Amino acid sequence: MDENKLQHDFISTVSHELRTPLTSIRGFSQTLLASWDDIDDKSKKEFLKIIEEQSNRLIKLVENVLAVSKLQNNENYIFKNISVNSSIKSVIPIIKQQYKNHKITTVFNDKIPEILADKDKFQQVILNLTENACKYSPENTTVKVITDFAENNFVSIKIIDNGVEIKKEDMERIFKKFARIDNPLTRGVQGSGLGLYITKSIVENLHGKINVSSNSKETIFEVLIPFSDMENQARSKCLQ
Ligand SMILES: Nc1ncnc2c1ncn2[C@@H]1O[C@H](COP(=O)(O)OP(=O)(O)O)[C@@H](O)[C@H]1O
Ligand SMILES: [Mg+2]
Repeated sequence: MDENKLQHDFISTVSHELRTPLTSIRGFSQTLLASWDDIDDKSKKEFLKIIEEQSNRLIKLVENVLAVSKLQNNENYIFKNISVNSSIKSVIPIIKQQYKNHKITTVFNDKIPEILADKDKFQQVILNLTENACKYSPENTTVKVITDFAENNFVSIKIIDNGVEIKKEDMERIFKKFARIDNPLTRGVQGSGLGLYITKSIVENLHGKINVSSNSKETIFEVLIPFSDMENQARSKCLQ
């Protein structure tokens, strides 16, 4: 597909995604303003709640669209040696705060070496995947984050949930812009379908890989990032 068509599709999808929450915010504000004295307190609260939810949806969408436009240039990546385990440890409380009815456990291999990566971007990957794991699994289930060694001098980070199965035929599509799968659980939760697209692009900019496997019992997203030693070796080879 040529670049212009992609850009056009992107803009029309974003406009559509913006219009839905904006229309609902405007509608409920207008109703509140026009009929303030005739509406009971309970309904007022309900309408304000919808306005708040839809505003949050807009903020998320705008953040995601900004993240997508930043992906085009990876100049703003700051590569440093970072610890995988402690980078993950500091973002888990953000998810716990958001998904109070999920149990989130971590199983870290303390021996894994550091990786050469942009810490913010790496944490963004973990946040996106852990958030999805909670979003697409029922409350009162467990989401596991596991770090370990993988083949060929890579570190493996697995995010495992016991939620909806991702069917084989959808496994490629979910990494595309705005792709969402329609099923009873995903229908109930909002999203822009940009998360995995952003996640995959970041992982690739970090010279890593992302894989997914899923069945009716569990879904596993695995991120593989090369050890920083290997990165340094590869770099010094290029400089020779
Ligand atoms: N852990 C998961 N379990 C089941 N389905 C998932 C999971 N993560 C992502 N998906 C599916 O992939 C789609 C795309 O995910 P994503 O790009 O993060 O967008 P969003 O979460 O905004 O819908 C989701 O709508 C959902 O259908
Ligand atoms: Mg998501």
